[in-house]
Amino acid sequence: MKKIAVLPGDGIGPEIMAEALKVLAALELPIELKQAPVGGAAYELHGHPLPEATLQLALDSDAVLFGAVGDWKYDTLERRLRPEQAILGLRKALGLFANFRPAICHAPLTDASSLKPELVAGLDILIIRELTGDIYFGQPRGRRTAVDGHFPGAEEAFDTMRYSRPEIERIAHVAFQAARKRNKKVTSVDKANVLETFQFWKDVVTEVHAQYPDVALDHMYVDNAAMQLVKAPKKFDVLVTGNMFGDILSDEAAMLTGSIGMLPSASLNERGQGLYEPSHGSAPDIAGKGVANPLATILSAAMMLRYSLQNPDAADRIEAAVGAVLDAGLRTADIAAAGAATVSTREMGDAVVAAVLGNS
Ligand code: NAI
Ligand code: MG
Repeated sequence: MKKIAVLPGDGIGPEIMAEALKVLAALELPIELKQAPVGGAAYELHGHPLPEATLQLALDSDAVLFGAVGDWKYDTLERRLRPEQAILGLRKALGLFANFRPAICHAPLTDASSLKPELVAGLDILIIRELTGDIYFGQPRGRRTAVDGHFPGAEEAFDTMRYSRPEIERIAHVAFQAARKRNKKVTSVDKANVLETFQFWKDVVTEVHAQYPDVALDHMYVDNAAMQLVKAPKKFDVLVTGNMFGDILSDEAAMLTGSIGMLPSASLNERGQGLYEPSHGSAPDIAGKGVANPLATILSAAMMLRYSLQNPDAADRIEAAVGAVLDAGLRTADIAAAGAATVSTREMGDAVVAAVLGNS
């Protein structure tokens, strides 16, 4: 029996998680779900956003289903006690190096995109971001007095961009394997023209590609990729890139699809364990009102079934059900046209459950 750690979090986390759990229950899968507090909810109970018991539950599980953390009322806490530290702590403890963010524009939502409908109709791309390396973690970093550069003697700050061969190899394998299950095309995004780190990235990705002759590979500079994502996003299939470029490009791609409330994500480690969460935060502005869109969390549960529980059929059923409720015109406020009727978080979840059961 596969074990799943359910961490609802704070803000809208518990509301959206409740709907995802209803959908999983409707599928009657052989899974064991165990809940634990995280983020602000854990701080209230245990004085820490990632208590030892919650971390241990995550480590002992095949997958983590995560809601959201980060209510504003915790903004005044010292950094190590802030809810967001929980997600960073989980990424680190689980070694989650591969972040998957699909950007799919569901047909009935084409009008919600910030791009022209014809540019995003049918959009289905996957951004794979390396999550544990790059300039975000590279040492050394710090502040000092400059000894050279344009202003010797001035105060300066510095970070270090670095990637090792094994780090690039493993994310490249992940990208080629993901592309094999899709349209067999990988675009590796770099800045090889300027940065040695990304010339190395390009070289190593090209070497790994030799093991995947059935997948097409092309390379693109990150500035051009940012442009192409808004010019002709459908040209892409899988994009793979480093931590910083991926952070920026995945947020850019998110906006092509309409609402942040629609976007799931997966973060995987080498053992296939994963953490699955909506791409949005805890939305304190709408928490407790029953209006949050639960679809990103429900779609994250589908990704969990696909990537960590090897149950693509169940994942397909959830995704088809979400497509069906959107086709039927159901809209939470974030995806509704001005003045149109909306449904609550719970009504949206109920509709997905009904569609899941109807498809069986
Ligand atoms: P946010 O994603 O929570 O909210 C941005 C806007 O989108 C808000 O207007 C919100 O109402 C709306 N929104 C988000 N999810 C929605 C949903 N499911 N349905 C309808 N509308 C939705 O980002 P924000 O406001 O920048 O951050 C709020 C808190 O969340 C912060 O403390 C931040 O640190 C934290 N955060 C946590 C993340 C996580 O748990 N992994 C990720 C991003 C932010
Ligand atoms: Mg970001």
